[in-house]
Amino acid sequence: MQREDLLRKLNWFYSLEVSQVDLYMAQSRKFKGTYESIVFERTAAVEQQHVHNIAAAIRELGGEPHKIGDVISPLFGGLLGKTLAFTGLKKTLQANITIENKAMADYVALHEQVGEEFGSELQTVLQHNLVDEDVHTAWFAQRLADYELLGLPD
Ligand SMILES: [Fe+2]
Ligand SMILES: [Fe+2]
Repeated sequence: MQREDLLRKLNWFYSLEVSQVDLYMAQSRKFKGTYESIVFERTAAVEQQHVHNIAAAIRELGGEPHKIGDVISPLFGGLLGKTLAFTGLKKTLQANITIENKAMADYVALHEQVGEEFGSELQTVLQHNLVDEDVHTAWFAQRLADYELLGLPD
């Protein structure tokens, strides 16, 4: 993989991670007083670590991290991304699963593509971020399944 190509992909991840920090913090405020609110806040803290480690990887390659615009809305086919923080708990969990699934698929793909050529540190960062997203997805999915069982409205 070319360095420019890698930098472009890492910048996409950087944008996604920054967006997730904002989104999960907005959700935490929205559902204040619930257990989910705390989970969203702690999840945002993990995404913030991802922002830092992706930014460091970009700088290591001689690039400068920058946000490339709205990377969340396209996952929902348009404008929905902006309103995600303001829907009910079930819809919020579903949206989060969609976003985390996209992050996981892309971390897996890039991890396979980078190989050893850019160093094992980058591979480790991609793999560790992937594991974190996997854990987030599992919690969101289990919580959603519990609420489906309880018949909670969307
Ligand atoms: Fe992340
Ligand atoms: Fe995540």
